[in-house]
Amino acid sequence: MTKHIQLWKNGPESLRMGIGTWAWGDNMVWGYNQKNYTDEDLELAFDASIKAGITMFDTAEVYGSGKSENILGGFIKKVKHPLIIASKFMPYPWRLGKNSVMNAAKNSLKRLGLENMDLYQIHWPFPPRPIEHWVEQMAGVYQAGLIKGIGVSNFSIEQTRRAHTVLQKYDIPLAVNQIEYSLVNRKPEKNGLLQVCKELDVKVIAYSPLGQGLLTGKYTPDNPPPGFRGRRTNRKQLDALIAFNKLQTKIGENHGGKTPSQVAVNWTIQKDTFPIPGVKNLRQTEENLGALGWDLTQDEVAELDFEGQKII
Ligand SMILES: NC(=O)c1ccc[n+]([C@@H]2O[C@H](COP(=O)([O-])OP(=O)(O)OC[C@H]3O[C@@H](n4cnc5c(N)ncnc54)[C@H](OP(=O)(O)O)[C@@H]3O)[C@@H](O)[C@H]2O)c1
Repeated sequence: MTKHIQLWKNGPESLRMGIGTWAWGDNMVWGYNQKNYTDEDLELAFDASIKAGITMFDTAEVYGSGKSENILGGFIKKVKHPLIIASKFMPYPWRLGKNSVMNAAKNSLKRLGLENMDLYQIHWPFPPRPIEHWVEQMAGVYQAGLIKGIGVSNFSIEQTRRAHTVLQKYDIPLAVNQIEYSLVNRKPEKNGLLQVCKELDVKVIAYSPLGQGLLTGKYTPDNPPPGFRGRRTNRKQLDALIAFNKLQTKIGENHGGKTPSQVAVNWTIQKDTFPIPGVKNLRQTEENLGALGWDLTQDEVAELDFEGQKII
């Protein structure tokens, strides 16, 4: 069992998991400031992560319209050792100037209270401008020293190859492709994206590794996920999850009583990806940290793979 990994080519070392901060300041999807969690909860979650040796935190300029970066920026001031901070640029169609990425990066850094950040990712491969347009600008921001690594997110095989090709010109590695990957979203292994990232030496960051809560065991047909998340699932999937969550618990028992969440996150680690589960409070953080320090066996991974076909 390896405790630390090199996060990406020529990149920093990290424990095998980071923390996602979409919910830190986001009202619309996650219900920030609607009584279910507060800044105090988030600070406790942050402190517990640091205490456990977590160094990587993922945010984006769009999370809570900058609030996530602000909140994270406030917390990281307290930490004296180096952290790995990742943010993302949104290629909005109205971003026309040739300094769009540079300006957005500077604004993110201001909110984070940093002079530079470890990883800057293109959040989505949105049209109308081609990927190359944004990757070229990213290279400029890298060369100016504002970012230490360039990543993409939600890029297909073809888009990943194109981004990789542009950066080769500058001798800059494409550090990561951040994609949705979990036991309820297996597309990246089925369509070959995981394999291509491996061939290109691009680390896969697995977002929504808990299936936005579905793999925690707490959402059932009688208690579906709220709001926007509820619309991403259906009764049939929630029915199938009852048996699957039981299997997660059974497998967790082989490892001293690991919970369904811990099994789900550990599964993404066994697939050689770097998970960034989102957390809203101390309890969730402490539980998710228990995904580290042990390994599912190959037989257990195979059983989850096989039974997992029924929940996607
Ligand atoms: N690049 C992209 O386009 C993209 C897209 C999505 C996410 N991301 C990144 O990936 C991170 C993680 O993804 P995600 O937040 O969408 O989904 P996730 O990690 O699969 O699920 C996180 C949510 O599950 C619930 N939860 C977490 N731990 C739990 C536990 N131990 N027990 C019970 N419930 C628990 C919490 O919500 P409730 O308590 O409300 O259920 C939490 O907000 C994000 O924060 C973000 O940094 C990136």
